[in-house]
Amino acid sequence: MNDFIFHNPDKIYFGRNALENLGAELKQFGKNVLLVYGGGSIKKSGLYDTVVKAVKESGLKLFELSGVEPNPRHTTANEGAKICKKNKINVVLAVGGGSTIDCAKGIAAAALTKSGDVWEIVKSGSPVKEALPLIAVLTNAATGSEMDEWAVISNMQTNEKIGIGGEGIIPKVAFENPEYSYTLPAYQTACGAFDIFNHVLDNYYLAGDATFDLILEFQEAVMRAVVKWAPVAMKEPENYEARANLMWASSMALNHILDAGTLHGCACHAMEHELSAYYDITHGHGLAIVTPRWLTYILDETTAPQIYRLGVKVFGLKEGMEAFEGARAAIKALETFCFETLGLKKNLSDLGIDETHFKAMAEHACKGSCITGPKTLTPEDVEKIYKMCL
Ligand code: NZQ
Ligand code: ZN
Repeated sequence: MNDFIFHNPDKIYFGRNALENLGAELKQFGKNVLLVYGGGSIKKSGLYDTVVKAVKESGLKLFELSGVEPNPRHTTANEGAKICKKNKINVVLAVGGGSTIDCAKGIAAAALTKSGDVWEIVKSGSPVKEALPLIAVLTNAATGSEMDEWAVISNMQTNEKIGIGGEGIIPKVAFENPEYSYTLPAYQTACGAFDIFNHVLDNYYLAGDATFDLILEFQEAVMRAVVKWAPVAMKEPENYEARANLMWASSMALNHILDAGTLHGCACHAMEHELSAYYDITHGHGLAIVTPRWLTYILDETTAPQIYRLGVKVFGLKEGMEAFEGARAAIKALETFCFETLGLKKNLSDLGIDETHFKAMAEHACKGSCITGPKTLTPEDVEKIYKMCL
């Protein structure tokens, strides 16, 4: 077990009555609130009206930025930063999924810089120490953005999708009412669920010599919860228990509880971000296509026992198989989950993607070096994995 520091200052209100506390929490930061949201799902669901009422009844002044795109663009974050500067915004309120929260994080950070340009922060690669306070109301169980220090911003002009991170952009407060995710279509539910699953899996094999049994068990419990509850939420969108399990799993998966004392790696995420940067696909779907191919590619005598363990602990395979046979069965079980249970299309070609950009994408995913993980991947390896996904 490696030494670690755990510090997550995000305060979570979870449950049906969570939003009753919104006004009071906003008020502590000042009077001017910038509400950030996406393409309109919160208007259809009625959440927009609830939020606006809470803000107004608390005597706060409301400004708005709508239209945040899935895979949020730097230009939209810059627009938000401009509103903040012009109107002396005190607190940014994100209401939506990971894209809205990430965009709001970009806004909150850029608002305190001289240029107001979030892409300068992205390009600097420096940790974000300072930002306007951010409050999140979560509507999609997926990214963990509601409780982490990351925001992923896309620049479609340069085909780049890059994360910024730092304690400055951890939300101060997040509101999680599973009922807000009842309106999610089955496809988004599936994609979000697989994103959660992969946040855990991308870190699962990285304990190395520093095995930390408690963390492995925690990780497996979260992946099991996704396997159990995602199909229920897809069939019964208003099943509170299913939505609640997925929502809390989303927050647990990336808030550092599940990688305490282990090494942090993100092989599938590094590969997927290139897919959404070039082709604007849904993040969780890209992950579902890449992950079984990645496991197949890294399968050898060193990784087989761990991959088999995933099969036993998460997919209920029987113990006692030979490691390679067990690992192959585990990958098969994962494929069945992604492509049959979640119903996601299996191949990049199904999403209209061919190999035109694979070389450039592979090089960018490796950031001029390699992707670390249970097996180090060179750009040549990544290109081969992309080809396996076709
Ligand atoms: O824009 P609206 O109208 O709100 O519709 C959204 C969008 O079309 C819709 N939606 C969200 N909640 C809904 C709903 N529709 C009906 N009812 C609801 N309750 O779903 C669509 C997708 O929303 P989006 O926010 O894009 O999805 P998600 O939460 O999966 O976020 C994906 C983004 O987060 C990044 C991804 O790369 C991607 O850009 N990630 C952020 C991370 C982080 N901050 O730590 C880590 C992740 O690995 C990920 O990279
Ligand atoms: Zn993700």
